[in-house]
Amino acid sequence: MDTRTIRKTFIDFFTKHGHLEAPSSSLIPDEPTLLLTNSGMVQMLPYLLKQKNPPHIRMSSIQKVFRTVDIDDIGIDGRHLTFFEMLGSWSFGDYYKKDAIHLALELLVKEMEFDKEKIWVSVFKGEEPIPKDTESIKYWLDEGIPNERIVELGWKDNFWGPPGETGPCGPSTEIYYDMGEALSCGKEDCKPGCDCDRYLEVWNAGVFMEYYKDEYGKFSTLPQKNVDTGAGLERVAAFMQGKTDCFDTDLLRQVVDLVCKKLHITDYDTNPKTKRSVKIITDHSRAAVFLISDGVMPSNEHRGYILRKVLRRAMAQVSINKGQAPFFTDIIDLIVSLYSDYYPNLLTQKEHIKEVITAEELKYSKTLQSGIKNLEKIFHTKGEVSGEDIFKLQDTYGLSPEIAIDLMNGLGITFDKESIATTYESSMQTQKNRSRLGSSFTLGKIIEEQFKNFPPTVFNGYNSLVEKANVLHIDRTESAYLIITDKTPMYAESGGQAGDKGTMTFVNGIVSISNVKKTKRGVFVHIADRNDENDSAIVLPDGKTSYPIPVTIEVDEINRKRSSYNHTATHLLHWAIREVLGKDSHQKGSYLDAGKLRFDFTSHKDVSKEDISKIETLVNEKIKEHAQVDIAEMQYTDAKKEGAIGLFEEKYLDRVRTVKIGNFSFELCGGTHASNTEELGTFRILKIEPVSEGIKRIRAVLE
Ligand code: ALA
Repeated sequence: MDTRTIRKTFIDFFTKHGHLEAPSSSLIPDEPTLLLTNSGMVQMLPYLLKQKNPPHIRMSSIQKVFRTVDIDDIGIDGRHLTFFEMLGSWSFGDYYKKDAIHLALELLVKEMEFDKEKIWVSVFKGEEPIPKDTESIKYWLDEGIPNERIVELGWKDNFWGPPGETGPCGPSTEIYYDMGEALSCGKEDCKPGCDCDRYLEVWNAGVFMEYYKDEYGKFSTLPQKNVDTGAGLERVAAFMQGKTDCFDTDLLRQVVDLVCKKLHITDYDTNPKTKRSVKIITDHSRAAVFLISDGVMPSNEHRGYILRKVLRRAMAQVSINKGQAPFFTDIIDLIVSLYSDYYPNLLTQKEHIKEVITAEELKYSKTLQSGIKNLEKIFHTKGEVSGEDIFKLQDTYGLSPEIAIDLMNGLGITFDKESIATTYESSMQTQKNRSRLGSSFTLGKIIEEQFKNFPPTVFNGYNSLVEKANVLHIDRTESAYLIITDKTPMYAESGGQAGDKGTMTFVNGIVSISNVKKTKRGVFVHIADRNDENDSAIVLPDGKTSYPIPVTIEVDEINRKRSSYNHTATHLLHWAIREVLGKDSHQKGSYLDAGKLRFDFTSHKDVSKEDISKIETLVNEKIKEHAQVDIAEMQYTDAKKEGAIGLFEEKYLDRVRTVKIGNFSFELCGGTHASNTEELGTFRILKIEPVSEGIKRIRAVLE
C-alpha cells in the first residue's frame, strides 16, 4: 500500500467509526510551552482538557509533527525522522480502553493486513503514583492477543505526555510488530522495549489520558477520560511496503534517490557512511521545507534555531560529499510535488521556501568551506584535532561543535570524543572566565586595557562622513565585534556626545556599527553587534586574509545630524541657564544622542517653574535668531582670553577646538554641531530633577 492510500485508509476507517477528520494544524503550535507541534494531540489540547467543546466527540487527523529530540539520531537507523506525518485518532470522554484496543486491532489486521500472529503489545506496568493498566491487559486478551505477547513496561515506554511542560497525559498501550528472528539481537530477553530491530513499534494505540501533570510534577485527574492515538505514517508505510527502513518507502526513497544522483553516490544501499549522509540531507531538507511553509524563519533562537540547525547539518553533509551550493532547489521541487496534494500550502509557499533555503545556504557555505579547510589543515599538521581547535573554529568562524564533529566524521578525521569534549570544555571555561572578568569592568576599562598597543586613530569625521580605511584588528566577544581601524569618519563617544552609528563595508558585505568608543590615548573602537548580517559580512583574518583589511566606513548622516543639533542645543541651554539662574551656575555633565539630551548643572537655589519656562523660551529665541555656529582651532590661552568656557576638568592640549554660537555662547568643545541654530527646530524641556545636593538635571528634546 502506498503512502497516499495509507492516509486514505486510516481516515476512512475512523470516519466509518464516527470520527471527524481534522486538517493538520501548523508546526507552530498554540501551546506556549511547546517549541514545535510534536504530536497530533497538540491541536486537541483544549478538548482533552474539556476547556472547549470539540467539533465532534471522536476525531482523527494526519498531523505534521517535528521532534527535536530526534535530530541527532537521524541516519543512524531507518526509524527516526525529525519531521513526520502522524496518524491520530481521539475520543473526548466518549469510548475508552476497550473500544480503542478493538479499533486499533481491526484497522491493522482487517484493513491493513498485518499478521495478527506477529503482533505484540505493551501496557503500563504501574509506577508510583500511576497504577498498573490491568484493564488494557484484559481487553487485549479478549481480542485474542495471548499473555506471552503482552509485555509490561514503565514510564519511558508506556506513559505519554504532556506534550509541553504541563498538560494532559496518561498510560499508553502500544502495538509492536515482530520483524522476525533474523533481526533480533539474540538476547534471551529480546522483546518489545529492546533496542534492536526485531520488535518495531507500529502504533501508540491508545494513550489513556485521564491525568493532568502540573508544573510541580503532580498528577490530578482530568474532568473526562480521553483516548489519544498516534502512529508515524512513514513507519506504517515501511511495514506495509515490506521495508524495515522509513527512507525506503515510496515517497522518501524518491528524495533519497535524487540526493544520491546529485552527489554522484552509487553505494547508498551498501555503505553506511554515505547512507547516513544522504538520510540526513533527505530528512532535514524535508523538515526545513515544512517548517518554512508554516512560517518558521532561520534565526539563532527558538524554533528559528531548530530550522537553522537542520539546514546547516544538511549543508554540512552536502559539502562533505562535494556538493555545490545552491544544492537544494530541485530537491525542494521534488518534496513539494510529493506532498502538496495533501499539504497544498507547500505549493503556494514554494518560491519563498526556495529563497529562504538558498539565502541560508549561500550565507553558510563559506563557514563550511573554511571549517573543512581548517580541520583538514589542523589534522594534517598536528595529526589530531583537539577540543581547543574546535573551540577556536567556533569562535573565529562561527562553526558549531556539532557541525565540526559532523564534518570530521564525514572527512574521515579520527578523533577521541572524550578528549575533544574535555579540551573543548576547558577552552570554553577560560573564555567564560575572561568574559566574567570583563563584565565586572565597564566596556571602557576593557578597551583601555585591550587596545593599549594600537596607534591613535586618525579622526576625519568633522569634515567627511565617508572614508576608505584599513582594519587593524577585530576582537570578537560573545555579543559584539570590536573593530580598530587606522582612520575613521565616525565620532567616538566623548564630551557627552554619543558615538556615531554607521556602516563598515567589507568585501563580503556591510557591517552595521552601533556605537564607537575611544580609549584615553585616542584609539577608536567601532562596535558591531553579533548578528547574522554582521557575522556573514565581517572578514576575519584566516590563512588567506591578514591585517590590514581594507574597508569603507560611512557615518549614518541623519543620526549624526540629530546628535549635532542636540549638541548645539546643549550649548544654548547652558548659556540660557546662566542667563536665568546666574553665572555661578555651571555645567556638571551632559549626555546627548540623536534623540535627546540631558544636562546637569549646579544651582544652589530652587529652580522654579517660571525659571524653567524662561530658560526654554530663551533657547527657542536664540534658535529663531538663526545664529551662526563657528568652529575654530586656537591656542588654549587665546581661547581663555576671549572668554571661552572650558568646562570639563580635562587637560587641554595647547591647541583647542572652540564652538561659538552667535556672539553669546563660546565654549571649548570637541563635539559636532549644527552650522546655524535655525536647523534645530523647537526646544522643549521635558523634566527637571535633582541629581544630588546642589546639582539638578534637565532632560530635553528638539521637536
Ligand atoms: N500522542 C501520542 C504519541 O504521540 C499518541 O505517541
